[in-house]
Amino acid sequence: MNSSVVDSLRHEANAKLDPKRKSALGQFMTPYKVAEFMANLFTQRSDVVLLDAGAGIGSLTLAASEVLDIVRAEAWELDPVMIAYLESNLDGLGVSYEIHETDFVLDSVDRIQFMSGTRFTHAILNPPYRKISAQSVHRFACRQVGLETVNLYTAFLALAILQMRELGEIVIIIPRSFCNGPYYKPFRELMLAECSIDAIHVFESRDKAFKDDDVLQENVILKLTRGGVQRSVKLSVSRDASFADLQQRELEFDRVVQPGDREKFICIPLEDEALDHGGLFVHSLRELGVEVCTGPVVDFRLKNWWSQSPQPGTVPCLYPHHFTADGFHWPKEHKKPNALFRSPEVDKWLMREGIYVLVKRFSAKEERRRVVAHLVTPQDTRSEWVGFENHWNVLHIGKRGLPMEIANGLTCFLNSTPLDDYFRVFSGHTQVNATDLRNMKFPSIEKLERVGRAYSRHLSQEATDELVRLA
Ligand SMILES: C[S@@+](CC[C@H](N)C(=O)[O-])C[C@H]1O[C@@H](n2cnc3c(N)ncnc32)[C@H](O)[C@@H]1O
Repeated sequence: MNSSVVDSLRHEANAKLDPKRKSALGQFMTPYKVAEFMANLFTQRSDVVLLDAGAGIGSLTLAASEVLDIVRAEAWELDPVMIAYLESNLDGLGVSYEIHETDFVLDSVDRIQFMSGTRFTHAILNPPYRKISAQSVHRFACRQVGLETVNLYTAFLALAILQMRELGEIVIIIPRSFCNGPYYKPFRELMLAECSIDAIHVFESRDKAFKDDDVLQENVILKLTRGGVQRSVKLSVSRDASFADLQQRELEFDRVVQPGDREKFICIPLEDEALDHGGLFVHSLRELGVEVCTGPVVDFRLKNWWSQSPQPGTVPCLYPHHFTADGFHWPKEHKKPNALFRSPEVDKWLMREGIYVLVKRFSAKEERRRVVAHLVTPQDTRSEWVGFENHWNVLHIGKRGLPMEIANGLTCFLNSTPLDDYFRVFSGHTQVNATDLRNMKFPSIEKLERVGRAYSRHLSQEATDELVRLA
């Protein structure tokens, strides 16, 4: 079947889907060009026993059949609209196949536990994306096979891995969020223990792989081999799903997962220079003697002590909205409080006045920068104690402030373009967690002090970058 026929079937099926189920089942189908690119990543091409879980209308299996000699295909799908298309598409292939109209996660857990069902030589997957809560059936089921994970897509991938034969190859398109973040650590450990990473493809533009469906995830394509020997990784990049500007290069595996990294972050260096930049990324915060915590004040737990205006007996409570590009604005008219009344319940979450670096934990998708830092000083807060709300990461030393030049240098560095590029190398999301900051590398104290003497919060982006480059 040619690509435009498959794509028109995809649009036809898409139009029939129930919009509510569409997001519950994560029904974002792969454009055929992407499916073909994925299929071409397989290296073994004969005697193929293929797995396609969350198969939709079967586009991935169709693309795989163009390059692989398939002897049998098995597909899992829940939606009757999809299944009707899937059946007719697989029929047309003329190979032995089976469609399991069951939940892939629950079915796989049984198959793995009871060592039943097929073991596959190849898997091609675009699984559904949906968080799975701690109490969900999927989470319980996964635990039966020792799998702890927070999203359906990582559950699908892990369960596929566990049903592969030795040297079985998996090609999958998934969001980048599994690459870092503490919740995905057990999944990363399983994936890296069981598989080699052979290839990674990145779409540079966040919304381009699934543009028909308004999916704003950063997606990557991975090629893994179960039990494969880990060699260098083939990294490819294209702006979008046309692959018109495809670029490829080989990357030492050490660049992808840094030796000794206990978090097992998967780094995807898009630009070579992003990893070094002349000694800018050398020391961890711990090596610099600086600590980081999440802002300790969780406001809804302290609602009884909220105060709109600062007054005797209150302390400032600082949120990201108190800081804008042109400076610190506090107090400010807002639905959130500007201050908290002191009480034993409040006091345990406060920090002593000092010079702190505050890094926003969340940035809006459309914001240009991922990492945004602000300096706050006793001149801003004018209070012996201060509350930092939970949407911040707070850089501190022993729960107290930092020396001015170091704090200012860190703020400058965190707000620079080289740092933002570096952060994108190992992060697929807009969130910046304390763990991310702990794992990131910073310049030496001397460099930070030098930059800190010259930086001010009113400098332009260009001037900030220049300071960091000359450090
Ligand atoms: C992201 S779509 C991808 C469809 C197809 N693989 C493609 O690439 O076009 C995920 C598919 O998984 C199906 N699905 C969702 N949850 C499922 C589950 N627990 N078991 C089996 N299929 C599921 C959805 O109905 C949807 O068709």
